Amino acid sequence: MMPDYMEELYSLRGLVAVVTGGSSGIGQAIATALGRAGASVVLVARTGRALDEAVAGLRQLGCRADRVAADLGDRAALQRAAELATRPFGEPDVLVNAAGVNLRPPLEALSAEDWDRTMAVNLDAPFLLGQAYGPRMAGRGFGRIINLASQQAVRAVDEPGQQLSGVHADGSAAFAAASPVDARTAMPRAPITFSASSLAGAR
Ligand SMILES: NC(=O)c1ccc[n+]([C@@H]2O[C@H](COP(=O)([O-])OP(=O)(O)OC[C@H]3O[C@@H](n4cnc5c(N)ncnc54)[C@H](OP(=O)(O)O)[C@@H]3O)[C@@H](O)[C@H]2O)c1
Repeated sequence: MMPDYMEELYSLRGLVAVVTGGSSGIGQAIATALGRAGASVVLVARTGRALDEAVAGLRQLGCRADRVAADLGDRAALQRAAELATRPFGEPDVLVNAAGVNLRPPLEALSAEDWDRTMAVNLDAPFLLGQAYGPRMAGRGFGRIINLASQQAVRAVDEPGQQLSGVHADGSAAFAAASPVDARTAMPRAPITFSASSLAGAR
């Protein structure tokens, strides 16, 4: 059992976290870490079955967890999801933007639809969710917004046997890079942290 002092330093008990992409990969790992540290966690992704499995896994570990199924590339669905995600445990203190798409056709094969989808999920959604929750975090005097990005936001992928895919456009890094400025201008007195985790070299 954690000594009181350590609990005071590191426990997330009483905090609520919304984790997009929390049904898979990095988002799921982050949701598990937050849940095991005591936070109540709401997962957001599209596929209901994967969400149910992820929530069941968290509950088996003793975590408080729930889920919202939504396509974050659809603005109306995102706004509904932002509201629905507050219902199980209340307003989030932590937002993790881990949902993302990673389409890597070569430049000449990349369609406008691929581009638009990448921008909608990887760039617009973190902005819109940050806008939905961030000001209220500021109003309460505490909040954390964590945006995942990729090294592909700043460099092309050159994989053996494949053509150079120069335009995998992971917009999260652009948003994350802009966010410290946004945080200062939009919420000058609030201890809100925007951070970019650019997982360089992971692929
Ligand atoms: N894995 C790596 O090595 C790596 C390296 C650098 C950066 N990244 C970035 O980190 C993020 C997560 O990567 P990952 O490897 O963990 O990916 P992943 O395992 O494919 O998980 C992606 C998650 O996002 C959800 N998602 C995708 N599109 C969505 C949409 N339109 N609306 C709502 N949820 C959506 C997926 O669920 P549904 O499909 O059910 O919606 C899933 O939960 C991505 O932004 C990725 O580009 C990953």
